[in-house]
Amino acid sequence: MLEKTLSIIKPDGVSRNLVGSVITRVEAAGLKILAMKMIHMTQEQAKGFYKVHEGKPFYESVTGFMSSGACVVMVLQGEDGIQRYRTLMGATDHKKADPGTIRHDFATDIEKNVVHGSDSPANAEYEINYFFNALEMVNE
Ligand code: CMP
Repeated sequence: MLEKTLSIIKPDGVSRNLVGSVITRVEAAGLKILAMKMIHMTQEQAKGFYKVHEGKPFYESVTGFMSSGACVVMVLQGEDGIQRYRTLMGATDHKKADPGTIRHDFATDIEKNVVHGSDSPANAEYEINYFFNALEMVNE
């Protein structure tokens, strides 16, 4: 099934000049970029984005980190796009990620793990609508 997913290149990825490396892997995997922009969130905006994690021990810290610098947010599309992008990213904890995945190859920390990707169709819809309106996204 053709699916859309929300991808973020996190502040560690942007500040370490990994934007091109991540996008190269996304395109090489056959995922299409339907929308893309650079943003710098406030912590309140990051809290709204990570609402599903509200109350978890890492919520304050991860939203502080996500608002510490610029991010690149993208909408990706492909067959089984949510799972395929998650496979490309690797496990949240880079120490458990498979070799060749973005997090295995670039992440330094469970929080500074370079990229985010939606984990379900419902979350993908929430996350895409959080950052993009219809005018900002191509329909292909
Ligand atoms: P992400 O996929 O963006 O979703 C939530 C983020 O919280 C996660 O990646 C990590 O960057 C961060 N995080 C920090 N600690 C943890 C943890 N123990 N478990 C899951 N996510 C964590």
